[in-house]
Amino acid sequence: MSLAIIGGTGLTSLEGLEITRREVVRTPYGEPSTPLIHGSFKGYDITFLARHGYSHNIPPHQVNYRANIWALRHVGVQRVLAVAAVGGINEQYGPGRIAIPDQIIDYTHSRTTTFFDEDLSQVTHIDFTYPYDDELRSWLLRAAQEAGVDAVDGGTYGATQGPRLETAAEIKRMRQDGCDVVGMTGMPEAALAREAELPYAHCAVVANWGAGMESGQTLSMDDIRANLTRGMESVKMIIGSLAPK
Ligand code: HPA
Repeated sequence: MSLAIIGGTGLTSLEGLEITRREVVRTPYGEPSTPLIHGSFKGYDITFLARHGYSHNIPPHQVNYRANIWALRHVGVQRVLAVAAVGGINEQYGPGRIAIPDQIIDYTHSRTTTFFDEDLSQVTHIDFTYPYDDELRSWLLRAAQEAGVDAVDGGTYGATQGPRLETAAEIKRMRQDGCDVVGMTGMPEAALAREAELPYAHCAVVANWGAGMESGQTLSMDDIRANLTRGMESVKMIIGSLAPK
């Protein structure tokens, strides 16, 4: 079963990936963020896509999520592991921690969120009760355990519009809503994957405490980057422990 990895901030390439082919995919929705990189990683097939482009120049609200998911589906990948940086909103989700969330609250707006919006023979509503694929989540959690990475099993991902970070009041509200982590790219990516019938799970790397969680402190990109580098090492260990399926 071939696996696609969508790499986010801090993961624009995958070291150790033996690249066999780069593929430019044209889609009905425009250009994916990058050509797809096909290769072999520790003996299994991986297709890699850098969500923000190789030079990290596509902000979260400008990512062409539809083109990315359509391209992955088109080349026949069978599941999608999305890696993305997040802020921690709950005590368990501190900087450097890895989480495999199991729920989503979507606060984004003005994004194109569906493949089902024109040329329809009938209106389509996908089921999204459990937004992430359970089998893929379990596979990731097992790999984390094998790699000795203490990943949090579950949690609610709050997707915000960005590109600015949140206000302290927004984070407080999200915490009251039940969010555990906050990021800017989890939606509509997860919903589009479901529409495309691609099993999808999220490996969230906590880069910072959500705005206002540390009283009196503001957020610095330098701190965020430092934690992210540490967290991405854990992500690479998890990916390296995914036994071929
Ligand atoms: N908010 C939203 N997205 C993020 C954050 C955050 O605090 N940290 C990393 N991605």
